[in-house]
Amino acid sequence: MKTLRLSNAATDIRRAADLLIKGGLVALPTETVYGLAADALNPEAAARIYEAKGRPSDNPLILHVANARMADQVAYTDHPLFEELTNAFWPGPLTLVLPKKADVPLATTGGLNTVAVRMPDHAVMQQVIALTNKPLAAPSANSSGKPSPTSAQHVLEDLDGIIDAVLDDGPCRIGVESTVVDLTGEAPIILRPGSITEEMIVAVVGPLQDVAGERVKHSPGTRYKHYSPKAHVAIANPEASTFFREPFAWIGSHSHPKAARSFILSNAHEYARDFYAILRECDRLNIPYIYVEPVEEIGVGKAVMDRVRRAAGIS
Ligand code: TXA
Ligand code: MG
Repeated sequence: MKTLRLSNAATDIRRAADLLIKGGLVALPTETVYGLAADALNPEAAARIYEAKGRPSDNPLILHVANARMADQVAYTDHPLFEELTNAFWPGPLTLVLPKKADVPLATTGGLNTVAVRMPDHAVMQQVIALTNKPLAAPSANSSGKPSPTSAQHVLEDLDGIIDAVLDDGPCRIGVESTVVDLTGEAPIILRPGSITEEMIVAVVGPLQDVAGERVKHSPGTRYKHYSPKAHVAIANPEASTFFREPFAWIGSHSHPKAARSFILSNAHEYARDFYAILRECDRLNIPYIYVEPVEEIGVGKAVMDRVRRAAGIS
């Protein structure tokens, strides 16, 4: 199959929507990472997402909606905190896990009777959803296990020839995937940290349930190895460099004198935005070892270190 390259021009946005209406697979930009979209209500289209990514069929997809009516079509939204959370953070990188409605095929939810829903804060993505007039299932548009794509080029590295089209609207603003919050119980539980931080959520809804509890095991995505480049990734402080294997790339707040390449990131937001792209760049340069200076685990730093640990195979 030839994968069409689409731009953010109105005619191409229309084309992306037409492909989706016909059951096609189109990679689309969001504020977090590029997503591999399909009509969430069409079980064959959803099945094609799993096939294209090589994704385990029990790992459920996130549904992207353009408005509250669409969220109501796919999920029960009567949780007492739903309105507070969506008023505060939608459109934006907050995904809510809710009881699913019958319209959503089990092929989309990995067989679960819950469904993950978010309203992306991205003009092109919103236009495509509105034109398609269907909720769009969209996991990150990478091959399963690879770092998530933050540009159209990254999507093509993994999925060229396998999907119908990719719509290029430049690099993603945030760079880590959305915060996933389980709203099926009384108190919300953060299943995956993101740029909507625990601190921000607590400020709106009060204390959360402890994530170390049993329920976290029910978050299917947390079972799988993630975000792994070919290179070996480790967390390290610059002073420990006598133990570094060479040649290595260094990711940190200052350049490293012994590194084959240094990637300088000055704060957690820059780590979030650039980390996946740097992992891919190191693979392209055939650099076998990557050492990452840790950031403090507050605010978005928590999501950053979650992804760094996963890339390092630690969690
Ligand atoms: O920012 C994002 O969320 C990006 C963009 C494209 O929107 N999407 C994304 O999708 O990261 P994906 O498939 O790579 O990650 C979805 C996560 C997985 O960890 C999955 O297990 C979890 O959401 N998830 C989806 N539905 C769920 C459900 N019903 N219950 C629990 N976890 C669910
Ligand atoms: Mg993913």
